[in-house]
Amino acid sequence: MVKHSNYSIWALIAIAGASAFAAPSARAYELGQWTQAQSARSAQTLFRNIGPSTAVPGAARGAVVASPSRDPDYRYHWVRDGALVMGTVLGFYERAVKSAEKTALLGTLLEFVDFSRRNQLTPNPSGPADGLGLGEPKFMVDGGAFEGSWGRPQNDGPALRATTLIRLAHLLLDQGREKLVREKLYDPSVPARTVIKADLEFVSRHWGDSSFDLWEEVRGDHFYTRLVQRRALMEGAALADRMGDGGAARWYRSQARAIEPTIERHWDANRGFVVATLDRDGGLEGKASDLDVAVILGALHASSPGKDDRYFHVTDDRVLATAEKISEAFRKLYAINGRERDGDNQPLGVGIGRYPEDHYSGVAHQNSGNPWFLATFAFAELYYACANEWEADGRIRVTPANLPLLRRLKARQRLRMDFEPKELIRAGDPRFQAMIEGLRALGDDYLRRGRFHGDPGGAFSEQFNRDSGYMQSAEELTWSHSSLITAVWARDLRSRGR
Ligand code: NOJ
Ligand code: NOJ
Repeated sequence: MVKHSNYSIWALIAIAGASAFAAPSARAYELGQWTQAQSARSAQTLFRNIGPSTAVPGAARGAVVASPSRDPDYRYHWVRDGALVMGTVLGFYERAVKSAEKTALLGTLLEFVDFSRRNQLTPNPSGPADGLGLGEPKFMVDGGAFEGSWGRPQNDGPALRATTLIRLAHLLLDQGREKLVREKLYDPSVPARTVIKADLEFVSRHWGDSSFDLWEEVRGDHFYTRLVQRRALMEGAALADRMGDGGAARWYRSQARAIEPTIERHWDANRGFVVATLDRDGGLEGKASDLDVAVILGALHASSPGKDDRYFHVTDDRVLATAEKISEAFRKLYAINGRERDGDNQPLGVGIGRYPEDHYSGVAHQNSGNPWFLATFAFAELYYACANEWEADGRIRVTPANLPLLRRLKARQRLRMDFEPKELIRAGDPRFQAMIEGLRALGDDYLRRGRFHGDPGGAFSEQFNRDSGYMQSAEELTWSHSSLITAVWARDLRSRGR
């Protein structure tokens, strides 16, 4: 097999319109053109940050470097970032048409499989290999354990990794490569010999443990973590069935069901949003608002478009209500959000941070949080994905929880007709089309916000300053680029008319 360095892979990927990026004034692009050019630039950075990497010497094959930044130091393989970024690599694989492209991408994915299995077998401060050690949040880029003190364990990681690799396993099974799947991805034997099996065993036995949240700060029971754990177990059960491991399938499904009541209790009907963390038992205090973009990320990371059970899905009115509250909080909090139009007089969505009380800026001179690209692009993806689902359904059920969003879209689309609570809006009703178009326009607003604060050459760091709007903290954050790409994929689905 010809081995391409990861850096060269992006050049193989055909992204229409990518060459347009050479033009000097990125700002003047139509948004659609920009999305294609930026996706190509983002793919380039994403692959450059995967080992072996020209940006980070010493990164092992299959390691995903969070960012080449040394200050703050992001030269690690985070299990969470790695799983999400490899989900995007898998998306490129699914879309690939040329065989050279497919071969190169599969090579990268299998290197990630091997690297991940090595992580599982590396004793670390979270615990012994193949046991509690699976909750370890990050590893050195050469695969060694990170021994420093950190918010550990973080139990979303194994669930996210399993979810990405289960998708890969199904693709390989569809190609008749069962031997490869049994050897590297899923074998029924316990103690586990393969990466997916080990993750599913861990998640199914430890989802009830308290752990640190995805922001590595608060210990407790988190909506995000539980939701992605449930998803991993549901998908794991389906794969176990396909692999003839029926007993395990029943066990994973039973545990997925057992998680549900613990997820439901995060919905606060009085305040009208999903509370990010309950039963805090360690880590940072003082997140008084209980609002966190983690809820929106959870809905995105726990959905498999078109075929899942829509549990706290992007169309769920509780998720949409939470998004309204988050957006309102950040609109008031960050000075940059006072600017509502870009240089072409096009609307800018609200720059979204992690949570209102955030203090982490990634730089020494600032002790207050900022908007993040991955959070702002998550809002874009949420609204595109919701539009796609509702369009495919051909109807929208009005509820007290989604009414504020529908009314805001109504105003944005200058629609005169109003909604009745509990009404069913069907395709053909002028309001239906207005809502779908309104959601897509809203998604565009958030992409424009990211474009406005990003670098005209296509770089994205982790954050942009709440007052000045300039990028800061870890440069070329792999997850920032990954989130741009997946948002654009959700935007482009419309033209494919699913
Ligand atoms: C680094 C973590 O990665 C980040 O999420 C956190 O906010 C800061 N440390 C401060 O605890
Ligand atoms: C800090 C973020 O809070 C965390 O979610 C992420 O995994 C690391 N940075 C690495 O990107």
